Amino acid sequence: MLELNQLSASYGKAMALESISLNVMPGELVAVLGPNGAGKSTLLKAISRSIDSHGVLRFDRHNLHEVATERVVGLGICHCPEGRRLFPELTVLKNLQLGAYLRHNKAAVAADLHKVYELFPILQERSQQMVSTLSGGQQQMVAIGRALMGSPKLLLLDEPSVGIAHRLKMEIFKAIRQIRDSGVAILMAEQDAQSALQIADRAYILEHGQVAQQGLARALANDDHVRKIYLGIA
Ligand SMILES: Nc1ncnc2c1ncn2[C@@H]1O[C@H](COP(=O)(O)OP(=O)(O)OP(=O)(O)O)[C@@H](O)[C@H]1O
Ligand SMILES: [Mg+2]
Repeated sequence: MLELNQLSASYGKAMALESISLNVMPGELVAVLGPNGAGKSTLLKAISRSIDSHGVLRFDRHNLHEVATERVVGLGICHCPEGRRLFPELTVLKNLQLGAYLRHNKAAVAADLHKVYELFPILQERSQQMVSTLSGGQQQMVAIGRALMGSPKLLLLDEPSVGIAHRLKMEIFKAIRQIRDSGVAILMAEQDAQSALQIADRAYILEHGQVAQQGLARALANDDHVRKIYLGIA
């Protein structure tokens, strides 16, 4: 469904992604792990065409380099960015509706709103509340919900658990798993490698903009080298 081959990207002269090869199959939950500055966010931005890149970048038979940035969402790639980028002075409902701004089928949009509320019941309770009054974890739910309102085939999640209390974090990871089970493929950047490996099918570990390790999540979680270097477990 998603295929990257020797993909590179840079900010000015600084190389941020170097020859990345990665793929995501339909319905898969794939984690992108690695330390600060490894290139995780840059990778997701390259896929959603928020930044330029070079190399093979294909999605569902389309060459994404040839797709205008504003058409990427229409193809079914929805990006839930780092730092959430919500509209804090608008209500929860308004923020969610903004995720569907390109869609014209009102019944389908209403059905997806219903699904988001099923996934995160607290958002229905708080639908008329300003986003700025929600907790960090609840705001993350809005950000994921907004991306779902674009009706993704592939959901790009950038650090969904960062800065969130443990209980809400577990709730969010459970919801991510449910989204995958509903048939949406997910590529998720995450600092909490241990938790991510528990829910992901496969994972790539980035270091200095390159793929340092990759494999089945379970195998990586049990690999001594990975445990020591990336999970901090002796
Ligand atoms: N807008 C930018 N301009 C210049 N350099 C950038 C920009 N954004 C990121 N970089 C650099 O690109 C590299 C990769 O950054 P990126 O944000 O992709 O890392 P990350 O893995 O998402 O890190 P974090 O875990 O801190 O979110 C870093 O060296 C970073 O300093
Ligand atoms: Mg990042």
